[in-house]
Amino acid sequence: MLDPARILQRCDALARHSELPGGLTRVFLSREFRAASDLVLGWMREAGMQAKLDPIGNAVGRYEGDRPGLPCLMLGSHLDTVRDAGRYDGMLGVISAIECVHVLHAARKRLPFAIEVVGFGDEEGVRFGTTLLGSRAVAGIFDEKVLEAKDAAGVAMADALREFGLDPKEIRGIARKKGDVLAYAELHIEQGPVLEAEGLPVGVVTAINGFSRLRATLKGVAGHAGTVPMNLRRDALAAAAECVLAVERVARANPELVGTVGRIEAKPGAINVIPGEVAFTIDVRAPQDALRKQAVAAIRSQVEQLAKARSVGVEIETLQEFGSSTCAPWLMDQMDRAVKRKGFPVRRLPSGAGHDGMALAAITDICMLFVRCKGGISHNPLESITREDAAAGVSVLSDFIEHFELSA
Ligand code: GLV
Ligand code: MN
Ligand code: MN
Repeated sequence: MLDPARILQRCDALARHSELPGGLTRVFLSREFRAASDLVLGWMREAGMQAKLDPIGNAVGRYEGDRPGLPCLMLGSHLDTVRDAGRYDGMLGVISAIECVHVLHAARKRLPFAIEVVGFGDEEGVRFGTTLLGSRAVAGIFDEKVLEAKDAAGVAMADALREFGLDPKEIRGIARKKGDVLAYAELHIEQGPVLEAEGLPVGVVTAINGFSRLRATLKGVAGHAGTVPMNLRRDALAAAAECVLAVERVARANPELVGTVGRIEAKPGAINVIPGEVAFTIDVRAPQDALRKQAVAAIRSQVEQLAKARSVGVEIETLQEFGSSTCAPWLMDQMDRAVKRKGFPVRRLPSGAGHDGMALAAITDICMLFVRCKGGISHNPLESITREDAAAGVSVLSDFIEHFELSA
């Protein structure tokens, strides 16, 4: 029997592996990440899967079909977190998928396809500033240049992988071929307020919004906070403040756009020094790629103008871009049917957040099931779901798996 209490207990158990005392931060290839991956691999084995860490640090479990070596239905989500995170974003999808396999295994049931459950090693991109590392490797779209990306301590990703006992040269080999993965299905908390507002436990995702991530660096002149008159300053932080508001203005101009400055760093960072250099990130998302690109162009031009007006130098680099991904109609239909069979109303909705399915879409059709979360709150320690909703989500996912067929 599916056990929603066990799902929540396992989310709690993973949340204990954190580098943040009293909270949850678990970044790619950290000591805590190792401990969490080991737990997940153990749960996969208990559920009857062959399980191992792959060369990019994904925890991968495989449950063979009614004969060995069949193409798989891939399920999963991620095991890394943002800083000061909630305990369900990512983990709920991995643990719920393991629970579904557990039930098949207990009933000694094999399906006409294999199931693979993947706990992707890095989706959030917190450590190296670039996201979807695990799922891109599996989808064969991992850009080896990112192996040179450095974390805040100056450690290159390739070195971090080696220190973790993984061989970056083997990453290429984990790319799946089209046809090996029949489809990808991910259960995830909604991370937004729609399901709660409508009184629904689950929703079927139609598409995942695309994103652009940039970093702007403003260079002014550092100086004495007491001696330099206001009209003679080139204060990089005051210029950045105007830029943050410009990002907000551009994003507010269209209800389908969102824009965020999530990180800002001012140097030298002293109370009595005019900031000489400021770097900040910009995250822009939209359902239509053209709309997102227009917004990015507008933001770039406004940041450049604002910097110029204050005689501050500016450099803007694109860190990462990903187009929007549509969920496959044949899979959404099968998920709708699973929702109905479990007695819930069908509600389709788009995803504003990014997910591993965006990368998997390069090799297979994807779909997602959202589970209601309290207040729509996520990327926040207050993230929470009820046991009833965890039960609803896993029961729909399990039903979807057991009825999965290649044609609609
Ligand atoms: C991932 O959670 C993202 O959408 O930033
Ligand atoms: Mn997240
Ligand atoms: Mn997530």
